Amino acid sequence: MSFQPQEQVDLRPYNTLGISARARYFTSVRIQPQLQAAMRWALENDQPWLLLGGGSNLVLAGDVPGLVIRLEMTGKRVVHEDDEHVWVRVQAGENWHELVRWTLEQGWSGLENLSLIPGTAGAAPVQNIGAYGVELEDVLQQVLVLDALDFGLKHLSVEDCQFGYRDSLFKREPGRRVILSIDLRLRRQPQLQLEYGPVRAELERRGINEPTALDVSDAVIAIRQSKLPDPAVVSNAGSFFKNPVISADQAAELKRQYPEMVQYPLANGQVKLAAGWLIEQAGCKDKAVGDAAVHRQQALVLVNHGRASGKDVLTLAAQIRDDIACRYGVTLEIEPVVIGAGAG
Ligand code: EPU
Repeated sequence: MSFQPQEQVDLRPYNTLGISARARYFTSVRIQPQLQAAMRWALENDQPWLLLGGGSNLVLAGDVPGLVIRLEMTGKRVVHEDDEHVWVRVQAGENWHELVRWTLEQGWSGLENLSLIPGTAGAAPVQNIGAYGVELEDVLQQVLVLDALDFGLKHLSVEDCQFGYRDSLFKREPGRRVILSIDLRLRRQPQLQLEYGPVRAELERRGINEPTALDVSDAVIAIRQSKLPDPAVVSNAGSFFKNPVISADQAAELKRQYPEMVQYPLANGQVKLAAGWLIEQAGCKDKAVGDAAVHRQQALVLVNHGRASGKDVLTLAAQIRDDIACRYGVTLEIEPVVIGAGAG
C-alpha cells in the first residue's frame, strides 16, 4: 500500500488541551493495512512515530518531530457470551463514552462508573482509566496489539499489561505496541460499585433506592459535569496530577498539622492524598501562566483559556509542584503524557 503523509500539520484540533504544535508528518488510519504502511514508511525514513487517540491525555510541549499517527479504526462486536457475561471487542478508535452508553443500552453493565471519560477505547489501557472506584483493568479481558519490533499481532492479558494506578506497560514503553482493539467482559446482572460517597449521594438526591447501571451512569455524568470542564467548551486534559501516595508515618504527621487533609488509607499500608485538596488549600487556585490556569471547580485540572502553549501549561504545573513540595513535602507527578521539544 502506497503511503504519503501530510506535512506540517497543526495538532490543535487533535488534543483536548487545545495546544497549537506542528507535526512534521501526520496521517490518520482507519484500517490495519494503512497503519502498517504508515509504520513501515516511518521506519524506512528513519522517523519516530507518535500514536494518537482522542488526544485527551496529552501535553504538547513543542512541535512534534517524526510521524503522528491518529488511530481511527472503528467497530464493536460481541465475540463470546454465556449466561453471566458478554465479551465485546472494541476497535481502538471508538469513542469511549459512546461505547459506555451503548453497552448500557444493550443491558450490559461494568462500564457505568467510567461514564463521560474523554478519549478513545484504544487509549483507555494506556493510563488504565479509572473513576469512582472502578478501573479499566476490572473489566478488561485482553488487548490486541501490533508490536513494532516484529510487526506481529499479539494478545496481551491483563497481567501482561502491568497495570497500576494511571499506569501501564503502554505508558512506560510508548510507541512500541499499537493497541488495535480491546476485549471487555461485561455482566448481564449488574454488580454495582457504589462505595464512592458522591455517587451514593447523587443517587439519593435523585430519590433512587435501587439503582440500575444506567442510573449509576447518569449519576456519574452529573457529578463529572458539575466538577470537570467539558473539553469541547474549555480545553483541558482531565486530572493533570496523580493523587500522591505517601507513607503512613508521613500521612500521620501531615494530619497532625492539617487535621482537615483528605487521606485515603490503601490496602498496602500507604496513604493516598487528594492532590486537588492540596492544590486548593495551598492557595494555588488563582495561579495562571498566560492562558493556562487552574480550573475553579477542580484544582486537579489545568485548563487552557485560549492560546496557552505547552510550555505555559508546564510552567504552571512546575510552580504548583514547587508550592506543594515546599508546603507539604509531597511530590506531585504529572499524569498526562508530555510530548515534544523540552519534554522529559
Ligand atoms: N478536592 C478539593 N479541592 C479540589 C478538588 C478536590 O478539596 O479542587 C477534594 C474533594 O473535595 C475530595 C477529594 O479532594 O474530598 C477528591 O476529589 P474528587 O472526588 O473530585 O476526586 P479526585 O481525587 O480529585 C480522582 C481522579 C479523577 C476521577 C475522580 C473520581 C486522579 C488523578 N483523578 O480525582 O480522574 O474522575 O477521582 O474517581 O486519580 C482523570 O484522571 O482525568 C480524572 C478526572
